[in-house]
Amino acid sequence: MKKIKTSGERWDMEEILRFPEGFLWGTSTSAYQIEGGIHNDWSEWEDSSARLAELQKQGLDTYDFDCGAACDSYHRYAEDFALAKSLNTNAIRFGIEWARIEPEKGTWDVGAIDHYRRVFQEAKKNGFKIVCTLWHWTNPLWFAKEGGWAEKKSVEYFERYVGLAVKEFGSFVDYWVTLNEPMVHIGNGYITGKFPPNLRNIFKADKVFYHLTDAHSRAYDLIHKHYPGAKVSITALVNYYEPASRWNIVEVVLARLMHYFANHRFLKRIEKKLDYIGLDYYFHSRVVWYPPFKKNKNVEVNDMGWEIFPEGIYHVLKYLSSFRKPIIVLENGVPDRTDKLRADFIREHVYYVYQAILDGVPVQGYFYWSLLDNFEWRFGFDPKFGLHAVDRKTFARTAKPSAAVFAEICRNNGARWRV
Ligand code: BGC
Repeated sequence: MKKIKTSGERWDMEEILRFPEGFLWGTSTSAYQIEGGIHNDWSEWEDSSARLAELQKQGLDTYDFDCGAACDSYHRYAEDFALAKSLNTNAIRFGIEWARIEPEKGTWDVGAIDHYRRVFQEAKKNGFKIVCTLWHWTNPLWFAKEGGWAEKKSVEYFERYVGLAVKEFGSFVDYWVTLNEPMVHIGNGYITGKFPPNLRNIFKADKVFYHLTDAHSRAYDLIHKHYPGAKVSITALVNYYEPASRWNIVEVVLARLMHYFANHRFLKRIEKKLDYIGLDYYFHSRVVWYPPFKKNKNVEVNDMGWEIFPEGIYHVLKYLSSFRKPIIVLENGVPDRTDKLRADFIREHVYYVYQAILDGVPVQGYFYWSLLDNFEWRFGFDPKFGLHAVDRKTFARTAKPSAAVFAEICRNNGARWRV
């Protein structure tokens, strides 16, 4: 791998690194984070007295932490697809919301289904390859009240919902994502308690692990029953763990253990039920032997304090190539209020994706997270991941300067690079 320097004017260059023909360039969103007006387990938690008290205690404005109307994409999806089109992308990833489709147990909402059909039609009209996410951490209330993913019947409930989605939307979908980052849901929902259902219960976490792997496997089979040629995966958040010192055995072992539990275990269990691998890359951990077991150099950090470490995407792609499946980067993005970091962030990550391809890794696409500034879960609306800003009152969308850089990469099917 050719490393790049992380300073200097390295971008006004001359050669375009061309990606393979048919490479997918896209943007990613999720239903809950952009649509608005959804009532599910997350919206319940945002309105709960415990959550409101916690925010007030920190002196934070609760308005900023209430998903509410989000980006109003429920009504503005056509405008959003036009924005995505203006970036010269040829693919798009978006989600559908289970809580809308099945607001009461066993009852389908015909209006919601018709709505999503129009959304798919509009995406197709724009010529996009469609990546559809079926579940992105949020659950219908009735499902959560019955115990959510900790209960065995969750698998059947999910399968029933997937059956409906395949029947109604299957003809539009090019790539399915059954579950978004299941390990993040398990970690935050059942171990650290930061996401609904806000538990700290390792035994339940373990149950949820098995239920989610089963849910994916059943969804996989069901989709293939109707569409034998379908392409089905999950998105895996794969972090790049490296020992701070290769000579420190404790750090080496710790890094391996973290990699195994956070990155590998889930994928390994569903390995036979993956047509491709959807990768979400955000994090690097330089593992040290003492608490908190992570000490990054943090040469550059984003608005949320996360280290920017583009080279890490190369390493996780190399790791994923051991599964011998096509890989699509379905999320990679940066919270950057001033839009000063984003253009280089994209170029540098795209550069390392290119290096991975040169080294034989079958990467077939790169999707930036996110098309719009949106609701960033427990951090509310403050983090700005979008290529487009969204006015929270008028919902007007405005392209940021970095959007033009990404659009150029997509148009050229490659990034400019100084050699
Ligand atoms: C999630 C997104 C989230 C993004 C940025 C990913 O882990 O899938 O929903 O907005 O990270 O934190």
